[in-house]
Amino acid sequence: MKVVMVLYPGGAAAKENPKILGAAENALGLRPMIESAGHELVALTDKERDLDRELPGTDVLVTTPFWPAYVTRARIAAAPKLKLILTAGVGSDHIDLAAAAERGITVAEITGSNVVSVAEHAVMQILALVRDYLPAYRQVVDGKWDIAAAVTRSHDLEGKVVGIVGAGRIGQRTAIRLKGFDVQVLYYDFRRLTTAEEYTLGIRYAPLDDLLRRCDVITIHCPLTPETDGLFGRERLAAMKRGAYIVNTARGKIVDTQALVEAMGSGHLAGYAGDVWYPQPAPPDHPWRSMPHHALTVHVSGTTLEAQQRYSDGIRDCLTRFFAGRTLDRDYLIVDGGKVVSPSYSYAFGK
Ligand code: NAI
Repeated sequence: MKVVMVLYPGGAAAKENPKILGAAENALGLRPMIESAGHELVALTDKERDLDRELPGTDVLVTTPFWPAYVTRARIAAAPKLKLILTAGVGSDHIDLAAAAERGITVAEITGSNVVSVAEHAVMQILALVRDYLPAYRQVVDGKWDIAAAVTRSHDLEGKVVGIVGAGRIGQRTAIRLKGFDVQVLYYDFRRLTTAEEYTLGIRYAPLDDLLRRCDVITIHCPLTPETDGLFGRERLAAMKRGAYIVNTARGKIVDTQALVEAMGSGHLAGYAGDVWYPQPAPPDHPWRSMPHHALTVHVSGTTLEAQQRYSDGIRDCLTRFFAGRTLDRDYLIVDGGKVVSPSYSYAFGK
């Protein structure tokens, strides 16, 4: 079998640090396992020309959300031997799931592998925005000491209303981590949790329109599907409280690029953070890079060194089972047997 991995370029950092498993140079730490079992491994960074050259002979394609190879319908058609597409991480929206289902290709991701990492990042960025951390940090680097300028937009998080959109694995872990801050937490999800779950997590359900109107901070944790593409467009951003903040560690396309630039430029939103963009990597002139009061990072929240070890272990498990003709862990399956089977995606794509 031929396994093709499309991973981010690791450069000097990955050479120095073998724990950066998600870099192409380190091939998820799986080269010995794949080659000793008699299979071929090609690890690429070029997600267009080099990938397109390999596709006709590829049996298994491994991609990652951090450096997404866009596995379009045309690319799937150009890969007649392709049987399995794996996402090293969580979120397989860079793959045309409907086209994969039609071809009977299995799609799986490493469910749960980086959910704690993302929840921690979301809480960190909520605090960075509300406390206005970055300007105070910048003063230190720039040799300044201007307290008034550093605190003019700095608030306590305590007592604020925080809204979680998508109360799945990451959304729930974010809620648990917010408990210590004495905030009121609302959530919106198209699958309402049980009363017992809401009680344990300390969160209350609110329809989306309500949540937009009431929240000081909104943190987005739903997948990108046809239903959530552009969910935060001009109207919904305008419906948010003036001076509210958004943290989006889910997917860049859930927020309309231009509408956000306008909402930030006009001061309607007080801040925006997160780590997801469209496309990725974001070009140097992506308009979000130069928005006022943002605290964005490149797409790193789900790829701490611990997370990389967990998604490497998950890919190892999938490949070991696949090579042995065994079924994959059910929790990992997104598309199987010609259907989108993951509950988080299946509503949007139909069962
Ligand atoms: P999950 O499947 O456990 O939770 C997703 C939740 O969103 C579910 O409760 C689902 O019912 C809800 N949902 C789906 N469609 C919705 C809609 N139209 N409206 C409202 N709620 C909806 O997934 P998990 O593990 O919590 O991950 C969520 C997303 O976070 C992933 O799909 C991925 O896009 C993103 N992610 C980002 C990472 C990063 O590094 N920035 C790493 C891991 C995930």
